Amino acid sequence: MIEKPVQAGGIQRGEFSVLAVKGATPMLAMSYRGPHRVRIEQKPVPEILHPQDAIVRVTRSCIGGSDLHLYNGDVPDTRVGMTFGHEFTGVVEQRGEEVERLNVGDHVLVPFNIACGTCVFCQQELYGNCHESNPHATAVGGIFGYSHTAGGYNGGQAEYVRVPYADVSPTVIPEGMDLDDAVLLTDVVPTGYQAAEMGGIQPGDTVVVFGAGPVGIMAARCAWLFGAGRVIVIDHLEYRLEFVRNYAPCEAYNFRSLEDPVLFIKRTTDFLGADVCIDAVGAEASGNVMQTILGRKLLLQGGAATALHWAINAVKKGGIVSIVGVYGPIDTLIPIGNVVNKGITIRANQASVKR
Ligand SMILES: NC(=O)c1ccc[n+]([C@@H]2O[C@H](COP(=O)([O-])OP(=O)(O)OC[C@H]3O[C@@H](n4cnc5c(N)ncnc54)[C@H](O)[C@@H]3O)[C@@H](O)[C@H]2O)c1
Ligand SMILES: [Zn+2]
Repeated sequence: MIEKPVQAGGIQRGEFSVLAVKGATPMLAMSYRGPHRVRIEQKPVPEILHPQDAIVRVTRSCIGGSDLHLYNGDVPDTRVGMTFGHEFTGVVEQRGEEVERLNVGDHVLVPFNIACGTCVFCQQELYGNCHESNPHATAVGGIFGYSHTAGGYNGGQAEYVRVPYADVSPTVIPEGMDLDDAVLLTDVVPTGYQAAEMGGIQPGDTVVVFGAGPVGIMAARCAWLFGAGRVIVIDHLEYRLEFVRNYAPCEAYNFRSLEDPVLFIKRTTDFLGADVCIDAVGAEASGNVMQTILGRKLLLQGGAATALHWAINAVKKGGIVSIVGVYGPIDTLIPIGNVVNKGITIRANQASVKR
């Protein structure tokens, strides 16, 4: 988590200032320079471009696993100069003339998805699938700081952000809530919650979560809310396994020390398989050489689908695989034959954070 810098180009920030929101003065922002290169640059402070916009002065901003996809150069049409950051809180500095719900000075948490609130998908609370907020593609709605494939909106690893449809998603942070907690509600907690929810967990179910990153940790913790009887987390980073073991709490295993993670899960479930498997890893998965070469080195598929393979093969017949790990838009090798033969239900989505 980054504390907002108060100084940019010798200009003191932190006070409301007309200059600061006119675009005339520079701010500091995390800028994409090409694969594996980001740097902090001075950019103009964003301006209101539409009457439903707000300008927000950022107070908390996170780096997430999804930033890795951009940083590694895996997301198509990530343009040099784009500002990263889709998990942030901030204070409303200026609002467009059609904004009614937010006032200048409100401290808000801003969901990562940009949603119009009125399209056919937003009306079903599928805010992550908004049909209006992304002029560049129909498969995905607008996302802050997430390439032109996701609308080309600059993100929140900056001092100021332009927030479109400001009346729809930003939510005023309740008094007394710690900002460090509030910023987790912009992505990580709702995504983990939705991962567990999409798993359709029944009381007593065995739930396996692949990935002990922030999203997997929250998915594991939320699995209990839906009545899980046993929660198992798989990763290969010991410090994360140690954390989730205590925080979720759950069983946690290092796949590097398991001969075969799928066989391990079958053995520990009377050879039936887990009731629910959650993929909270996505395109950057390790653990299978072929997937890594095709999906991460040669970029011939939309990422390495190693964890997804394991999820499909480790879930029981008729079970549910819930995918929140992100993959690229091109084709990806997965064992679809096993999905059919085992009668698996696959549920997946971008989290509808506002819901
Ligand atoms: N669907 C959504 O709305 C949404 C929202 C936020 C994040 N995400 C995605 O969720 C995924 C997780 O996000 P994060 O911030 O926790 O990322 P992260 O990179 O911090 O965590 C991923 C974890 O997976 C582990 N891992 C790698 N290969 C594995 C394997 N084969 N099996 C098990 N674990 C493995 C890594 O060691 C790492 O700890 C990312 O793909 C991210 O883009 C999706
Ligand atoms: Zn919409």
